Amino acid sequence: MDYRSGSQIREDFLRFFEGKGHRRVHSSSLVPHNDPTLLFTNAGMNQFKDVFRGAERRDYVRAVTSQKCVRAGGKHNDLENVGFTRRHHTFFEMLGNFSFGDYFKRDAIAYAWELLTSKEWFGIDKDRLYVTIFEGDAQVPRDDEAEQFWIETGVPKERIIAMSGKDNFWQMGETGPCGPSSEIFYDLGVAASESGEDRPFPEDDQRYVEIWNLVFMQFDRSVTPEGPVLTPLPKPSIDTGMGLERVACVLQGVLSNYETDLFAELVEASKQLVMASAGASSTMDSISGSPLPASYRVIADHARSATFLIADGVLPSNEGRGYVLRKIIRRAIRHGRQRGALGSFFYAMVFPVVKIMGTAYPELVSATESIKKVLQAEEEQFSRTIELDRESLMIWWSSRSLSNLPKYT
Ligand code: SER
Repeated sequence: MDYRSGSQIREDFLRFFEGKGHRRVHSSSLVPHNDPTLLFTNAGMNQFKDVFRGAERRDYVRAVTSQKCVRAGGKHNDLENVGFTRRHHTFFEMLGNFSFGDYFKRDAIAYAWELLTSKEWFGIDKDRLYVTIFEGDAQVPRDDEAEQFWIETGVPKERIIAMSGKDNFWQMGETGPCGPSSEIFYDLGVAASESGEDRPFPEDDQRYVEIWNLVFMQFDRSVTPEGPVLTPLPKPSIDTGMGLERVACVLQGVLSNYETDLFAELVEASKQLVMASAGASSTMDSISGSPLPASYRVIADHARSATFLIADGVLPSNEGRGYVLRKIIRRAIRHGRQRGALGSFFYAMVFPVVKIMGTAYPELVSATESIKKVLQAEEEQFSRTIELDRESLMIWWSSRSLSNLPKYT
């Protein structure tokens, strides 16, 4: 496999599907303005929800996107894991191809396999790939059809594993379009395993990484007093999602998303900015070659989500979306302080974020200055809160006479 940058991978994905008659559609906003069921856009299909249901028509029946997604707050919430795992992010890009009543399972499977394995495209070694299908439940039968199409495409039967609805039935939320899915996994090799044991698929979730989810949209889910009801969609459709950061990890031959070019520079920038803010008081992270603390990954990740959210009009506040944004910003600042930062540093992360992402998302470029100002104001306000907390703690302690202190025996 040739090295491909994150930007090239994004562009190759979009070009591949354009070549298959898909319309390139720009990512929708992270704020789903017409959807009260959703806090943030969390999947590529969100902007097409009504098209799947037949309630909205577009002048195309095939689309391809690179969608900005945030999974922090709401049904899909990854916030607390971020920085401590190889693959969790608050903000990520989802590459997706969509069919609105046009092609269905057979073509979706064939396209995915061609893009991943063809030498002209991603050229991934077939022996490192596994696929899953839905094993069925009381309402929806086992997906024998998908299994058959995978076999016809050339995947050996023993590499196709049936899984339960938890993994292989995708729904956007309590209500909305949904259907059985088929996921494609890549084997990073035993080096990626935490235990170091050589285990078969799917027993090791560090080693076998899900790179693409093909959803066969067939139902609209609603909730009635008698329980959930699945109503067939007017036309079976396709919704797929491939995490750009994950596939970059595979194509760049690294074990963690944070080591890809989409993140490496950001993680380094967060270290430099924190160290500059820490001044001479902190040399603890300056030894090159030592593994970087999770805090820098947290800051890198949160800088992306904060930048993109503010560009889409979210402002820090005490409720709703603004509250989640405030939590993200404050979590990043706290991590900087843990590494010794004394003053503001986080606002300056907007520049490396825009440098890496601005070509694909021009909305960031025009908003850079205003994003910086919002972050700077929030950072200053939070620093004052921390100072006030510290001062009141000091006053509280100095008002106690030593005789009132608890005795430890
Ligand atoms: N909607 C599916 C997902 O988010 C596929 O795009 O995984």
